[in-house]
Amino acid sequence: MDQIRRDMLAGGGAALAGLLLPGGAAAREEPSLRETGASAGILYGLCEPATQFPGNRAYVERLAAECSLIVPSNNFMWRSVQPARESFDFTHLDLMAKFAAERDLGIVGHTLFWYVGVPKWLGALEGRRGLQEAMARYVEKTVGRYKGRMVRWDVINEQINPKDGLDGGLRRTPYLEALGPDYLKFAFAKAREVDPDVVLCYNEYGFEHRKEEERTKRDALIALLRKFRDDKVEVDCVGFQSHLSGDDEIDIEGLSAFTREVVGLGYKIAITELDVRDTNLPADPGLRDKRVARKVKDYLGCVMAEAKPITITNWGYTDDRSWYQYYDWSRRSDGAPLRPLAFDAAFRRKEQWQVIADAIRNA
Ligand code: XIL
Repeated sequence: MDQIRRDMLAGGGAALAGLLLPGGAAAREEPSLRETGASAGILYGLCEPATQFPGNRAYVERLAAECSLIVPSNNFMWRSVQPARESFDFTHLDLMAKFAAERDLGIVGHTLFWYVGVPKWLGALEGRRGLQEAMARYVEKTVGRYKGRMVRWDVINEQINPKDGLDGGLRRTPYLEALGPDYLKFAFAKAREVDPDVVLCYNEYGFEHRKEEERTKRDALIALLRKFRDDKVEVDCVGFQSHLSGDDEIDIEGLSAFTREVVGLGYKIAITELDVRDTNLPADPGLRDKRVARKVKDYLGCVMAEAKPITITNWGYTDDRSWYQYYDWSRRSDGAPLRPLAFDAAFRRKEQWQVIADAIRNA
């Protein structure tokens, strides 16, 4: 990878200009978060879909120079890798994994079981047994294929949702409805059996801010994590998605206590999908970037005072490709493009980048 970076710099003007920081010269001069993260023992990651690879190869080449791991967005979802009962499709994931290996870039498996991306053909399976067999086969094929090459697997994504009114604040998902909460243990055990050495994560969102519903979610999550320990479920790590809201304050005391408890239960933590939704932040881009950076600073300061995350991943590389650009619910009323990430559309490192660099360096 260092070779790539050297090549980029040697490439002259365009590549070098891409590293200029709007807010000052510091970030341009500093080593990449790939380097800073590697020396601090916190792998810095970026997210970019594999489905577009190798069409987006030049983009991913630049991305590879800035980070240590890539999350191929949601492309490991069950429905994507096994579109029909008898057919698996790893074409684009394999191409991206090969590219990543050549650049010594890790891959994150996001995500095995989520209420989104459930294959339609599952509905035609025979009962409980049929579903468990299908789950086992999917894990064997998918986790097995990339065994020894993954940084982490997000085995379960977003299984908590107290609003559903179920016991323990669990979300009503097809897996839960068919198999009950034991499916969680089954999923982690299967992943562990197939790749004994990989880090297995439970990944969750929506518990960072000072809001009643987020406090409720933290409580439910802690209860679940405690139960995992009691039941000897093979979970190594809790993924804090960290989709921060520009509108809401970070709950410093609540989140500190939560993080302490997670660590006390023996879990590692990972910051898995960091970004800031700036839908309602001021129009001025400079001011907006400052507010976004401040939010990330408050957040990382709070969490990292309690735990050293194994990875910090931004949910996207450059602002223009953030998922928030594509939804009505996140659109700004002034129509301006959003600026949720650490790099702007011209690949320049932003103030958020600097905040992450400082947090990693001081960890
Ligand atoms: C998002 C993707 O970025 C979008 O492209 C997709 O349309 C919807 O999902 N939590 C997660 C991620 O765990 O998988 C989601 O990714 C964002 C919220």
